[in-house]
Amino acid sequence: MLREVTATRYVAPLRSGGSVPGVVEADDLGTYVVKFTGSAQGRKALVAEVIVGELARALGLRFPELVLVHFDPAIADEEPHQEVRDLHSASVGLNLGMDYLPGAQDFTPEIAARCTVDPLEAGKVVWLDALTVNVDRTVHSSNLMIWPTLGIAPPRLWLIDHGAALVFHHRWDGADPTKAYDFRHHALGRYTPDTRAADTELAPRVTEELLRGIAAEVPDAWLADEPGFATPDAVREAYVAYLHARVRASAAWLPTDFPSREELAAEEARRAAKTQQGRPSWLKRVPDLHGRPAAEQDWSVHLG
Ligand SMILES: Nc1ncnc2c1ncn2[C@@H]1O[C@H](COP(=O)(O)OP(=O)(O)O)[C@@H](O)[C@H]1O
Ligand SMILES: [Mg+2]
Repeated sequence: MLREVTATRYVAPLRSGGSVPGVVEADDLGTYVVKFTGSAQGRKALVAEVIVGELARALGLRFPELVLVHFDPAIADEEPHQEVRDLHSASVGLNLGMDYLPGAQDFTPEIAARCTVDPLEAGKVVWLDALTVNVDRTVHSSNLMIWPTLGIAPPRLWLIDHGAALVFHHRWDGADPTKAYDFRHHALGRYTPDTRAADTELAPRVTEELLRGIAAEVPDAWLADEPGFATPDAVREAYVAYLHARVRASAAWLPTDFPSREELAAEEARRAAKTQQGRPSWLKRVPDLHGRPAAEQDWSVHLG
């Protein structure tokens, strides 16, 4: 079960995210990023966070701990923005917290250009996103972070924010487990993701038993009153049935048509030649350091 904690201090809102999560400290002395039940994305986003995040963890991908957070808006009464205060008052009670990774950096296109990600690790992330129909892991909104960044340990890739996954739960009657996944703008597409190897390794691990255990982590309150379902358990079973059917149909949705390393390198070389051509002759002798990593950025050696 997810641990339950009580928020004791409100630190700040995270305005870069669309759902305006809040950073809080809690009675277990932990610091958490809280996703609020009252946000515009609604409680289905929290259901997706729990199911996809815990599935990622079960499959060995890096994902910060999730907790259930009791939140009393009174702890944030110094928050100056009315829309954030409204969000808090609409979220009294149980919300979702994710362990805060201090100093973590968003995996932006600039950072991505300097990094190497192992094709199998990239393949596993793309595979998870395709299985769970996550539409929010794109080049410009990667929902990936790098942590730690202080040189005390090797930097690694962490998954966050699965609120926009499981899109089928917005229209259960049209849910098709064989639906193709649009991977063209995936944040890790440039690393020649080995989705076939990922499928071979991960698909057999996604059993009904695993999915049932994960669906059981979602609080009843976030599943209650779902149109077409009599009980929260009936909704849980629908998630299990869909994801289990989809994992067995991976041939129908497995993204495999990523450009090869050679194709990407050729494209990069064409781009560099064009840049060089446009330079005045004195600048042609200056080495092009643009995009070179300042320190070790090849995480593939640290995969564990
Ligand atoms: N666990 C975390 N540790 C550190 N920073 C985080 C964490 N989770 C989110 N953030 C920061 O907050 C931003 C918004 O979080 P995210 O979960 O993507 O929310 P949204 O649903 O609003 O997009 C992230 O881009 C990141 O900068
Ligand atoms: Mg996000």
